[in-house]
Amino acid sequence: MSMIDWELLHREAKAIMSKAYAPYSKFPVGVAALVSDGRIVTGCNVENASYGLGLCAECGLVSNLLSSGGGRLIAAVCVDGEGNFLSPCGRCRQLLFEHGGNNLQFMTPDGPAPMSTLLPWAFGPADLDDYRSQH
Ligand code: THU
Repeated sequence: MSMIDWELLHREAKAIMSKAYAPYSKFPVGVAALVSDGRIVTGCNVENASYGLGLCAECGLVSNLLSSGGGRLIAAVCVDGEGNFLSPCGRCRQLLFEHGGNNLQFMTPDGPAPMSTLLPWAFGPADLDDYRSQH
C-alpha cells in the first residue's frame, strides 16, 4: 500500500474546493483521495438552481475515480471553504464506502479514522453477494 501523504491530500482538497460551484449555499467543499495505485482523485460540490439536484464533492470524486481508471480509495480528506476538515454527509459516506470499504482512512480533526467508525455496520456489496449466493 502507498504511504499516505496527508498534507498533499489536504492541499489537493483545498485546491479543488476553490473550483466548487456553490452559489446557493455559499458553502464550497473539496475532497481529495489517494487511490490504491498511488494516484490522487479529487472532487468539488456542484450546485443547481433546482436546489435538490446539487452534487456533493464526493459525487465528483467517485466519478473521477471511475473515469480515470478505477481502483480502491485508500485515504481521503474533505474540506470546507476555510480548508477545515469536513465531516462527509451520510449519503457520501455510503458512496465512499462502496469504493473504499471499511479500511478507507478519513481525516478528522482528531486524526485519521477508518470508514468503519464513520459508517458502522455499513450496508454494501458484500450484503448483496451473501444474499444472492443463497437464493
Ligand atoms: N456538501 C458536500 O459537498 N459534501 C458533504 O459531505 C457535505 C455537504 C455540500 C453540499 C452542498 O453543496 C453544500 O455542501 C452545503 O450543504
